Parts: sequence; structure tokens; C-alpha cells
Amino acid sequence: MNPWHDEFPQEAGLRYLNHAAVAPWPRRASAAVCAFAEQNLRVGARDYPQWLQLEQRLRQRLARLLNAPSTADVALVKNTSEALSFVAFGLDWRPGDQVVISDQEFPSNRVVWEALRPQGVEVVEVDIAGSDPEAALIEACTPRTRLLAISAVQYASGLRLDMPRLGAGCTERGVLLCIDAIQQLGAQPFDVQASGCAFAMADGHKWLLGPEGLGVFYCRRDLREQLRLHEYGWHMLEDAGNYDRRDWQPAKTARRFECGSPNMLGAVALEASLALLEEVGLAQVAALIEQRIARLHAGIAALPGARLLSPQEPGRRAGILTFALAGRDNGGLFEALKKEQVVCAQRGGGIRLSPHFYTTETVIEDTLALLHRLA
Ligand SMILES: Cc1ncc(COP(=O)(O)O)c(C=O)c1O
Repeated sequence: MNPWHDEFPQEAGLRYLNHAAVAPWPRRASAAVCAFAEQNLRVGARDYPQWLQLEQRLRQRLARLLNAPSTADVALVKNTSEALSFVAFGLDWRPGDQVVISDQEFPSNRVVWEALRPQGVEVVEVDIAGSDPEAALIEACTPRTRLLAISAVQYASGLRLDMPRLGAGCTERGVLLCIDAIQQLGAQPFDVQASGCAFAMADGHKWLLGPEGLGVFYCRRDLREQLRLHEYGWHMLEDAGNYDRRDWQPAKTARRFECGSPNMLGAVALEASLALLEEVGLAQVAALIEQRIARLHAGIAALPGARLLSPQEPGRRAGILTFALAGRDNGGLFEALKKEQVVCAQRGGGIRLSPHFYTTETVIEDTLALLHRLA
């Protein structure tokens, strides 16, 4: 019996292996949104103070998930890309400054830095396919490097990097570490303090099992006031809610990055999803994901012509397993899988599978059986 069936009563026959893209919601998130809709229908925002309490709980959950020192260090944002933009367009660049990134980044974590070229910022792309990607990244930092921007887990290969090691390297060289954590947060424990990173960001719709359109931005306390603000409004003011006051200053907390009314609908769903993740516990979530990835790995390695495009060592991966079959039309294989209700993605020249902690053995074994039939 699947212990999480009540929370994930997915359609029979559905093989959902796409949490690295957009995840399904647990039942409690769906129920919370239904209740919120009903409340809006019946009494509107009469009980707004309760909504604010829920939003506060969400901030606390996110701060715990990131191991941020305080909720004052996290802002609720639209998505990862927005938070990356806050950093890129908030720092005071000097011509000749360098930003180091890897050659495997999702477009959001490349384009935003390339957009600084008119300000004289140089983007240095590092090949991280070798045996020591952290060393490659740290060695690429020169005295001109201001910031290293990196995904904790690469979206296509699933390669997981050692953030504390990168953080130590950055600190030694006086480089700011900016972590796109979207492919790790909710799949593995994550700790902004262990890495000493300057910034970290993630969205809710992947491993956090929430909706699209609500993410989190961690900004280290000592850097908060160094980021130039580009969005202004009532909500980001220190004395927000005092609409009669004419003098103002930005909030001392990370709320300064939240210009106007919050995405309360998203907060309702994400708060519920995070409650589930916290109940299961991130250590257990990570262990359960690794069991599923290991089984998929073993099954796929036995396919004729299988080429694993993801790291083989458990310490180097999180929830992503990408593979291709040599001599096969992998696009055709992807379409065939889709017809059989295997929800996955084509990434990095292969097929990307991404189970979550609740993914059943049946889903894993059926998918492997299908692959053996189709290969
Ligand atoms: C590593 C990585 N960064 C950023 C994003 C985009 O995130 P958002 O839509 O929250 O900006 C994705 C989405 O696939 C991703 O995999």
C-alpha cells in the first residue's frame, strides 16, 4: 500500500516523472485552494488578518527550508528569474567586473548576467563536465570576479555541486556566491548558512510541490541594503499600511523586495505543500528520492545502448536522471513514453526522469518495463 496515496491520488496509469519541470500538488494544497476560493466567494477578504498569519507561516517554513537565520532574510517573489534579476540589477557593477557561471545553466541563470554586458560586465562560462567541477569554478575566479552564479543542481544533467565547498572558495577570494536552488530545494536538505552564500532563490512549482508564480529569495543580511531597488510600492515600505505617511524608507527586512500586494492564492497552496514536506522531513525526502533514482538508474543501465547523462554517484545527484539510447531516435522514444502516460521531459540531449519521494514502486517499475519494451 502506498503510504502517500491520500495526498497524491493521481489518475490510475499516470506515471508522473517530471518534478524537475512542474510538479503535481498534494491533496492538502488543492483542498486549501478550494477552501480559499469558497471563502473569497462567501466573505471576500473579511478575514485578511488570518491570511497574513498564513503568509507568515509560509515565510517561516521557507526560512527553515533554507536554514536562513531569520524570516527577515527571505522575500516572497514571483519566480527564480525575478530574484536573479534583483541581484543582477541591484549590485553596483564596475566595467571589467566578471561573473562566473557554468556552461550547463538554465537560461534564466545565464541571460540575466549577459544582460549586464552593456555595463561592461564580462560573463565567464566554465566547463563543469570534468571530475572536479567545484575546482574548475573556483579556479576560474580572478581578482576581477565579483560573483559566482550557479545552480545547486543542474536542470538537464542533474549534476549536484558541493555548495559549502564553493562557498568556502568564494569567501577566500572575496566573491559573492549566488545559488539558483530550484532543482535542490524540496528534494534535498539545503542550507544557506553552510555555504555562506550571498543570495539563493527558488520557485515553488518543482520539488516544493506548489503552484507556479510564487518563489523565494534569500539575501544575506549584510548585503540587503547593498542591492539597489528597482520596484517600489506600498508593501515594501518600513511603515507599510500607514497610507497617510508621506515620508518613507524601504523595509529593513527582505520585504523591501516585495513591492505590492502578495500572491495570496499561491501562498495558500505553497504553505500547505511545504507543511507536507516538513512532516516527511527533508532527510527522508532525499533518501526516498535517491532510492527511486537508484532503481531507475539500474534499470536504464541495462537497456541496450543506454547512455547515462547524469552522474552515477549518489553524492553527485538529487532527483534528476537523464539518459539517451545510442542509435535510437530519442525524440520518438519520448513521444512513445508520452502515449503511455509517462510524464517526463526532453533535456540535455536525452530524456529526463524526475521522481519525487512519493512516487510509487509501480510507477518506477512500469516505466522501466515500458522502456525495455520500447528500446
Ligand atoms: C535551474 C533552473 N533555474 C531557473 C528555472 C526557471 O525558474 P523560474 O520559472 O522560477 O524563473 C528553472 C526551470 O526549469 C530551472 O530548472
